[in-house]
Amino acid sequence: MRSHYCAEIGEQNIGEELSVCGWCNTYRDHGGIVFIDLRDRSGIVQLVFDPKDSAKAHKIASEVRDEFVLLAKGIVRKRGEGLDNPKLKTGNIEILVHSLVIENRSLTPPISIGDENVGEEVRLKYRYLDLRSPRMQEIFIIRSKIAQAARNVLSDLGFLEIETPVLTKATPEGARDYLVPSRVHHGEFYALPQSPQLFKQLLMVSGFDRYFQIAKCFRDEDLRLDRQPEFTQIDLEMSFCNQEDVIEVAEQVLKSIFGVCGICIDAPFERYSYAEVMEKYGSDKPDLRYGLPLVEVGDLFVESSNGVFASIAKDTLHNRFKALCVKGGDSFFSRKTLSETEEFVRKFGAKGLAYIQVKEEGAKGPLVKFISKSALEDLLKRVGAEIGDIVFFGAGEKKLVWDTMGRLRQKVANDMELVDEGAYKLLWVVDFPMFEKNDDGSISALHHPFTMPKNLESEDILSIQSVAYDVVLNGFEIGGGSIRIHKKEIQNRVFELLGISQDEAREKFSFLLDALEFGAPPHGGLAFGLDRIIMLISKAKSIRDVIAFPKTQKATCPLTNAPSAANEEQLRELHIRVRETKK
Ligand code: AMO
Ligand code: AMP
Repeated sequence: MRSHYCAEIGEQNIGEELSVCGWCNTYRDHGGIVFIDLRDRSGIVQLVFDPKDSAKAHKIASEVRDEFVLLAKGIVRKRGEGLDNPKLKTGNIEILVHSLVIENRSLTPPISIGDENVGEEVRLKYRYLDLRSPRMQEIFIIRSKIAQAARNVLSDLGFLEIETPVLTKATPEGARDYLVPSRVHHGEFYALPQSPQLFKQLLMVSGFDRYFQIAKCFRDEDLRLDRQPEFTQIDLEMSFCNQEDVIEVAEQVLKSIFGVCGICIDAPFERYSYAEVMEKYGSDKPDLRYGLPLVEVGDLFVESSNGVFASIAKDTLHNRFKALCVKGGDSFFSRKTLSETEEFVRKFGAKGLAYIQVKEEGAKGPLVKFISKSALEDLLKRVGAEIGDIVFFGAGEKKLVWDTMGRLRQKVANDMELVDEGAYKLLWVVDFPMFEKNDDGSISALHHPFTMPKNLESEDILSIQSVAYDVVLNGFEIGGGSIRIHKKEIQNRVFELLGISQDEAREKFSFLLDALEFGAPPHGGLAFGLDRIIMLISKAKSIRDVIAFPKTQKATCPLTNAPSAANEEQLRELHIRVRETKK
């Protein structure tokens, strides 16, 4: 139907007759002459209807309203003197239309296309209109390019694209499963995969050597700005490899992805151990677009006259005493902002937020009176504090201090606008602990239970490390993976340490355990969170903006009204009775 996309037309086409199709973006009637901005995926071009030129086209044009679907034919001409629109790519030309067809009409749209102030619920209800905006079109063009780049680079590196099932058995990635009832097997359920983890390992046992897939994953977990219940991974696995091999492939994939978006990134990326990032940034996914390192100062409080601080400082195994020096922060933090900041860390469980203000007349603040003059001097020197700075302190149980001080670091950077918004800071986090202790004292795998441990014989289970690696971009985990266990004895030992009995392991993963006994090669891999990468590259505010039909924070879809009740007949067929919920 079309000869050109709207925004492809330019001065090179002046004098040509051509045809365009799209939606009426805006309509103006200037004393008899009608102007329509026609919009398609490429952008906008101005159509002109002059009754002197074509009375018929002009008459049809006068019926057009926002979002009508139009087919137009006409001649490209230069815009009149002083009428150029520099905001448009096609701003110095227009099409004088002699033939117009209204292919379809539109009701008055409930949202104005591209209006950023429309509430998200309404945007999602009318998602097909919301997606018409140039911004959303741009995001999905980037999304397609990125997926294509990943396919190309992985194919070039010898990876085979193989699909794995969606109706399957549970894969533990730390979230709840989405279950699908079986009609044929009374009382039995499939699980939707939290990732293709176990299948990709089986594909290595099958000898495919290098696999990849752009895979849908499903996780029933609390939703956040960077989490969706249904999301996409670029998932890969390779055989006869070590951590370095996987990291090298991953860096090449990211280089290509950024490359097609016009961003040049340097590889190899910086590398940090898990222990380093936790101690220095209080997070396993630190944002390195700004400094603000945390500094351990517990040793200077062992002799503190404050009993609470002294006792925290003495137990270096379980506790941390972290300082965060904010350059020029003294004038930024007024009494009011200080109390708001303390409220902020308390919300995440901190017991308080002590601080020292470094002023001309000396150090001030609630901590000063609790330490000796020389300890204070050492402290200020260690954190690099000078006049005009403020130093914050968090003391207590180490996980809590890392978490709250890590969040404080991020908040300070945002509030004081210290973040270099144009930067892409990529890093690897390696040497993760294999296990972590939950609040109820139980042990779980930090990555997943198929990750190869390093020092499995260690007496202290929490000191066992795994061959796992995460890749982090601007404070978000955009990918993670590991070298896997390919020997049954090691897998069984890990299950044992996790408190998973032989019977339970067989019930859940017998297929994997069996496969490990039939010549499983050494293997490993990684998965990127595709949506998160697109969110960061396209500078979208939330992951929902880069998924065509996302779910709300409450895991609903306002467009289709999913989830919804099933009728009695369907339920009976599935042998399911819905329990009454207590109101
Ligand atoms: P992991 O669970 O770390 O590893 O997931 C890999 C990457 O997927 C992204 N991601 C998400 N994105 C959006 N919404 C979510 N709910 C969500 N959860 C995870 C993150 C994360 O880094 N099978 C392993 C990979 C492997 O070991 O090879 C896995 O799934 O960016
Ligand atoms: P207190 O002795 O409880 O009055 O606390 C003195 C100062 O230290 C106050 O500014 C508290 O907010 C702060 N504070 C108390 N406990 C902690 C802690 N565990 N970590 C950091 N600051 C704390």
